[in-house]
Amino acid sequence: MKKIFKKLFSKSRIDLIQKYLSVKNPVILEIGIHKGDFSEQLLQKLNPKKLILVDPWIAYSDLIYQKSWYGNTQHSNQNIQDQYFLDVNKRFEKDILENKIQLCRKTSDDFFLENKSIFDLIYIDGNHLFEFVKKDIENSIKFINNDGLIVLDDYGLKGWWLDGITKAVKYYEKEKTIKIISRHNIFNYHHQCIIKKI
Ligand SMILES: C[S@@+](CC[C@H](N)C(=O)[O-])C[C@H]1O[C@@H](n2cnc3c(N)ncnc32)[C@H](O)[C@@H]1O
Repeated sequence: MKKIFKKLFSKSRIDLIQKYLSVKNPVILEIGIHKGDFSEQLLQKLNPKKLILVDPWIAYSDLIYQKSWYGNTQHSNQNIQDQYFLDVNKRFEKDILENKIQLCRKTSDDFFLENKSIFDLIYIDGNHLFEFVKKDIENSIKFINNDGLIVLDDYGLKGWWLDGITKAVKYYEKEKTIKIISRHNIFNYHHQCIIKKI
């Protein structure tokens, strides 16, 4: 059944964002970059004035990260993370030179501590555990334009990272500091959640 709904009602995450983002040449922050595949889509489809990419590219040894893309295992280790960072630098070399893209090799928490920019779009796709997503939303609310979009990846994926993303959104919904603009459901199959600050 899930497969049928997925086939019938799948939407690409970039198309979904484009539908709700009204600003032309937005200032964008992406949290969690990995190899930069989604950054490329943000760059090509949204033509941002500025795109800031934040990722520590660290291989974490804690057990909970063992199956993640950034654990310290046989699939990922610090050398591999270092290589991802170099590859992303190479991939966006031209835009980095033109100051259109800025790479920040740090955690989102550390990034926000020094950040002075205000964004039209913040895409949250870093550490998916509840406490981290909660902090990313809290910080995003401080640095998003009044009408800007905060988008979370992997929303509504049952059991994924102990439901960290879904729980963090619920937390702020209850606090009434955010409103939901669009969220994943079986007829809108994208596992994204788009929110605005209230
Ligand atoms: C799912 S991947 C990102 C994928 C990317 N957004 C895409 O769609 O192509 C998650 C990334 O989050 C990064 N990450 C882990 N902890 C982080 C943190 N505290 N702050 C920012 N990024 C973090 C990891 O290094 C990893 O590259």
